Amino acid sequence: MTRTESAVPLTAGESIHAAATGSEWWRDAVIYQVYPRSFADGNGDGMGDLPGVTARLGHLAQLGVDAVWLSPFYRSPQKDAGYDVADYRQIDPLFGTLADFDAMRSRAHELGLRVIVDLVPNHTSDQHVWFAEALAAAPGSAARERYMFRDGKGADGSEPPNNWQSIFGGPAWTRLAPAGHDGPAGPQWYLHLFDSSQPDLNWENEEVRAEFENVLRFWLDRGVDGFRVDVAHGMVKEPGLPDWAGKVAMVEGADAGQPGRAGATSSDGTPVSNTAADAAEAESGGSNEGPMFDQEGVHEIYRAWHKVLAEYDDERCLVAEAWVSPMSRLARYVRDDEMQQAFNFAFLTTQWDAAAIRRVVAESLETMDAVGAPTTWVLSNHDVVRHASRLGLDEVADGPLNGIGPEDPQPDATLGLRRARAASLLMLGLPGSAYVYQGEELGLPDHTTLPDEVRQDPAFFRTKGKEAGRDGCRIPLPWEADAPGLGFGASGETWLPQPEAYRALAADQQYGVAGSTFEMYRNALELRRAEGLGRGGLSWVTGYAGAADVIALRVAGVVVLSNLGTTPVVLPEGAEVLISSAPVAGDASGIAVPSDTTVWLRA
Ligand code: NOJ
Repeated sequence: MTRTESAVPLTAGESIHAAATGSEWWRDAVIYQVYPRSFADGNGDGMGDLPGVTARLGHLAQLGVDAVWLSPFYRSPQKDAGYDVADYRQIDPLFGTLADFDAMRSRAHELGLRVIVDLVPNHTSDQHVWFAEALAAAPGSAARERYMFRDGKGADGSEPPNNWQSIFGGPAWTRLAPAGHDGPAGPQWYLHLFDSSQPDLNWENEEVRAEFENVLRFWLDRGVDGFRVDVAHGMVKEPGLPDWAGKVAMVEGADAGQPGRAGATSSDGTPVSNTAADAAEAESGGSNEGPMFDQEGVHEIYRAWHKVLAEYDDERCLVAEAWVSPMSRLARYVRDDEMQQAFNFAFLTTQWDAAAIRRVVAESLETMDAVGAPTTWVLSNHDVVRHASRLGLDEVADGPLNGIGPEDPQPDATLGLRRARAASLLMLGLPGSAYVYQGEELGLPDHTTLPDEVRQDPAFFRTKGKEAGRDGCRIPLPWEADAPGLGFGASGETWLPQPEAYRALAADQQYGVAGSTFEMYRNALELRRAEGLGRGGLSWVTGYAGAADVIALRVAGVVVLSNLGTTPVVLPEGAEVLISSAPVAGDASGIAVPSDTTVWLRA
């Protein structure tokens, strides 16, 4: 190892974030995202389920997280993997029964884990009883008023009401098949910001508002500790639904799809006809401005929900999935009388670049502090390429978030894992609440060579294969290296194929193994708790404040230092390494932190 730098003192400057004063659990919780389809399969049908989750909750307790958030398990035709809900009060038979949910929740609570469920209020499934009623009812009827039905433009109403595009690609409007309920302009159109099987609800409608408050109460009564609110920035649309020439994307800053991938042949198979506009070139990517997002009216909804949660004890919480920018707009969702947390996607989308990361950390803390809310941190979820793959791409700067396919440049797995571990250890050292997506504690990459035939994400079909879609980050977890299906379930079946690389990363290969990614996360969470990092104040280490490749900060009594460069960083004498994301070498001239490595130090 060559060392060109001498040790920089680890003296911290002025505090940029004060230690948390509020005592609520969600201010510093580490929350583990379970994607039920892919966590663990209890009945051997190849699909994860709630009994599978219950059986593996010990993994989360051992890891040391505070809470679990489950993606949707409600009754659903699964056109968008459960984000198309047909009944908000029932469990889909794929995942089990309400009794299975109760058993899972009760076991989680016994283990000291809080339980957050997903709420999908922007749209229902087209199989929801309300949508069936709307189709059977006349234009202008109360049943249609629960959704966003409009007459088409043009003499015969054959053009969509406006030019909005679906976030999954293609038009955001679908025209009903001719039926006995057509108005004077012929069959109406309905809005769907996502797939045509996900009609948008009309949040100006009192019945819709009342229904969701009751859904909240239904799950609060069943003992859930909070809700992750899907598309929290999209429920209210600008009056008049004006045309919008900009692009829409769920993932802000996402790559607009990779040209040249083989075209998909099937579409989403909806029961109603999608017309000429469907032929429009599907494309996504860009920003989330526009008349369908971040409207003032959404905040009234969250103020009402805040009151519903306040009827219950135990510090229940709401978490916004809101892809909005700048961050000051995001902070408006977590004002005192609205939600408790919002996902920090700006952190997730920040490149592996010291200055950029310092900027987003400072901005996140400052902006959330201004409204008294905790900052959250997140690097992966079920909608984006896992960070172990993202960070292994040459073009990290513009790496795709919406999926990597076999024809795309492939990530360097070794580099990706090394950087992912460094990024995770940095994240877990920051004050606030952190989200861990299932499998990142094993260092899992995406499956980046899935064949088109097995893909299920509607984004792949609606973009006609231009976007690989999100299946690659949703692969069933590997639990046991030598079991069929890597121990995902008893039968060895898995709803998506697992890549060979998952075998060596199986949980049973990592438990108790010094240096494994699982043990790194487990140790980090233990230290984080013991040192009070989640509630600590933060200051930058002055000697590295403007460094090109080094991030160094002090949280509570710990220095967190990440070396993103190629030159080892020599630590001052006396610095004690508490944990590191990769081995650090020490010799007579001191300890050196190698490239793409994070350490926590007592110094
Ligand atoms: C965001 C969810 O995370 C994503 O998986 C889903 O496709 C869309 N919202 C639509 O519900």
